[in-house]
Amino acid sequence: MESFVVQGGKRLEGTLRVDGAKNAALPILAACVLTEEDVTLHRMPDITDVRRMEEILQMLGCRVERRGWDTIVSGMDVSSFEMPDQLSKQIRSSIFMLGPILSRFRRATVTYPGGCEIGLRPIDLHLSGLRALGVVIREEGGVIQCDGRGMHAGEVHFDYPSVGATENVMMAAACLPGVTTIHNAAREPEIVDLMGFINAMGGRVAGAGCATITIEGVKRLHGCAYTPMPDRIVAGTLLAAGAITGGEITLTNAPSGDMHAINAKLREMGCAVREEGDCIYLRAPARLTAFPLLQTQPHPGFPTDMQVQMLALLCVSEGTGVIVENVFENRFTHAGDLNRMGARILCSGRTAVVRGVEGLCGAHVTARDLRGGAALVLAGLKAQGETQIDHAALVDRGYERFEDQLRQLGAQICRIQTQE
Ligand code: EPZ
Repeated sequence: MESFVVQGGKRLEGTLRVDGAKNAALPILAACVLTEEDVTLHRMPDITDVRRMEEILQMLGCRVERRGWDTIVSGMDVSSFEMPDQLSKQIRSSIFMLGPILSRFRRATVTYPGGCEIGLRPIDLHLSGLRALGVVIREEGGVIQCDGRGMHAGEVHFDYPSVGATENVMMAAACLPGVTTIHNAAREPEIVDLMGFINAMGGRVAGAGCATITIEGVKRLHGCAYTPMPDRIVAGTLLAAGAITGGEITLTNAPSGDMHAINAKLREMGCAVREEGDCIYLRAPARLTAFPLLQTQPHPGFPTDMQVQMLALLCVSEGTGVIVENVFENRFTHAGDLNRMGARILCSGRTAVVRGVEGLCGAHVTARDLRGGAALVLAGLKAQGETQIDHAALVDRGYERFEDQLRQLGAQICRIQTQE
């Protein structure tokens, strides 16, 4: 097992370039199956979730090749409509393959992706959206058999604006004759990016970023070259690293237009945050001020994927603050570890009340999920003494060599091998 070891107390400062977004890259990789032609993806993030998705594509018959900064995906030889079980269990995002495989083969077999640390992660909205397009779905013993021979364009209404379900329907409808409309669609920026990719392949999608998306089916989609958008959650996490250490951070290639909620919260805590095009400048005060309340919401509300990082900031802020996690049911799993470092967090259901303390003490803690692991690293940057964060591999799912990036900003952090 690999662990991060952090010597806290260093003020971070410097400039970093933001990499491609995990949550844009994953559905875009899935959408490569919509065409038989080659797709060139520039500057894909080098993270394990992307590598696993590439393995899934290869097991379906795609050729995936990395050439320097480019990833070339050829869907010409895709021959299987059955998702490999062992891989679909490893990465939940494999559920994104449903739409493209149905578009290509009019049939698909996947297994339930299963839950994870942060919640049950049901897929009922994915399935109801596909049923609205005429897909006949049988669920037996964890296996989902989809018959798309009667697929047609249609009206889809989501009870909840699910990101993945919206993306699955967009991909399933891209080549369906007629116009499909999605009502109460998710509005995340990564969905806008998927629309950009599908349209770069010759698709006719409109309205992504709003609650109503229309997809006019086209006969076929062609290959293209595309660069996924930068990662707003990685960007927010790096800004939070500057904030918790009283530092001064500059980010380039940042999706500042998609980070208003994050930057507003950092300003509320006393940080000076300035956006100039794709650059974001943050200068933090010696001590942060607690925001009274943070509620996670679907975009453009405060993103749930930044919640636990803000929880870490709250722990060392002046005052008391409340966080309500409205999107996932179990996203305070790291409160216990933070309290072991001297924080004062009280959790009840989806609410955490935090009384800020002057400082934290280094401790031996364990990452339980991707964003929680990153938040423990942030706490370690602030804590006095040494903090060891086990299961660094969980952070590698969404952050490219997180320790290298932080070291470029002056952090004293390394990666070690440890016993399970
Ligand atoms: C995407 O997950 C992201 N993952 C998540 O990022 C992100 O937290 C989430 O959107 C919300 O923004 C990727 O894009 C790969 P949802 P997704 O469907 O699509 C419920 C990270 O750390 N729901 O919008 O699974 C669900 O239980 C990850 O990068 C249903 O009830 O999110 C949850 O409570 C974590 N039925 C809520 O909706 C469904 O069929 C939001 O889920 C689908 C979802």
